[in-house]
Amino acid sequence: MTHHHSQTMGQQLGRRSWAEPWKIKMVEPLHMISRKEREQALLEAGYNTFLLRSEAVYIDLLTDSGTSAMSDRQWAGMMLGDEAYAGSRNYYSLEEAVQTYYGYSYLVPTHQGRGAEHLISQAVIKPGNYVPGNMYFTTTRLHQEIAGGIFVDVITDEAHDPTSLHAFKGNIDLDKLEAVIKREGADNIAYVSLAGTVNMAGGQPVSMANVKAVRALCDRYNIRVYLDATRMVENAFFIQEREEGYTDKPIAAILKEFCSYTDGAWMSGKKDHLVNIGGWLAVNDPELFEELRNMVVVYEGLHTYGGLAGRDMEAMAIGIAESVQDDHVRSRIGQVRYLGDLLIDWEIPIVQPIGGHAVFLDAKGFYPHIPQNQFPAQTLAAELYRDSGIRSMERGVASAGRDPKTGDHYYPALELTRLTIPRRVYTQAHMDVVAEAIKTVYDAREETQGLKMVYEPKYLRFFQARFEPI
Ligand code: F0G
Repeated sequence: MTHHHSQTMGQQLGRRSWAEPWKIKMVEPLHMISRKEREQALLEAGYNTFLLRSEAVYIDLLTDSGTSAMSDRQWAGMMLGDEAYAGSRNYYSLEEAVQTYYGYSYLVPTHQGRGAEHLISQAVIKPGNYVPGNMYFTTTRLHQEIAGGIFVDVITDEAHDPTSLHAFKGNIDLDKLEAVIKREGADNIAYVSLAGTVNMAGGQPVSMANVKAVRALCDRYNIRVYLDATRMVENAFFIQEREEGYTDKPIAAILKEFCSYTDGAWMSGKKDHLVNIGGWLAVNDPELFEELRNMVVVYEGLHTYGGLAGRDMEAMAIGIAESVQDDHVRSRIGQVRYLGDLLIDWEIPIVQPIGGHAVFLDAKGFYPHIPQNQFPAQTLAAELYRDSGIRSMERGVASAGRDPKTGDHYYPALELTRLTIPRRVYTQAHMDVVAEAIKTVYDAREETQGLKMVYEPKYLRFFQARFEPI
């Protein structure tokens, strides 16, 4: 039997459980500091989990970005780094992997996703242009705004409702998209910014039918569609699971078909690609490629390394091939669901359906007595750390930032605390411990008070803001 498209052991045995398609070769010790030390650490960090030292953290669910465990093959690939300034052989491995699995013609490597977002935004957006997309992402929207663009959210209404069980809450609402095109004029639309899955909506997928329809609509108006492919492998899993006609198709085929309806993509390799650093931008238009290839030497590095070491590109190329294996994705999302299902059983409010990369606690449901301008999701992240040393992340009003025109907070409908699961890192027993800690914090919810922001940086404030209890 070949490695590709292999069945999981569970399927072969006719059982329903998933198990990781790997075993552990190297381990890293965990430890928990005392409650007193955690209180002190929280104070020093201004109640912001981004400002904690990782040594003060027990189980780290801050992000799935750059936190994956690499395989023995990837580590072996690191030893094959060709650290030439120009024309490294690892660049060509990466180019081939992106062309094979994503199908785009031209590749520009970048140090991570936001490096690619910077290049595409600067190259394509003219000041005053509109950029419709399926919900904002923090760094993506900021680069669009810095380039003079105006982001417009055209995601389906269900995405804003944490209790809606819609199968594809990441979908673009075609009526909303067409209304923006008609109102602003097709010439004023820089491109459609499509993400699969949608991080801020809870890791929710876009259907194949939706991307096809978006493509058709954009063709009528001659508008380009660029994909944020950061967690597109996970999106492909949901299509396989939920969309008619895709049950028997491998993840790799679904991924490639989806990308074929778009004109290019930017990528944070730190997620799906199972590496600690790396990203890329890929397009089909040769003229745009020429411009991007020229810009990358200004901001990232030569066009055959884009801010990466040769070894990083090799690990990423190998990670791409590993990431599209059906049994890998199934166990990755299976673990996220295992945690989410425990919380649902205990009637703890979370975003449903459970998404691809994380379980999102619904902080408005958790703390209905804390108004949104007192940062309920930030409060929850702080309380969880205090209770258990588990690190999560705010995805609510602090992350949303301020409207550049009015200066007011954006008040997103979703006020969430994200428990993000690194790939291939923690075990099911860790998930049990996490669920129990959340239950403890939930049981104490009525006594919990909100926070006020006492320091606010200008850009992407959630990373460095400081808070104090009210
Ligand atoms: N797009 C999406 C959907 C992302 O989730 C991220 C990063 C980026 C782009 C930017 O990529 O970090 O490599 O520069 N998300 C991380 C997170 C930070 O924790 O969700 P990057």
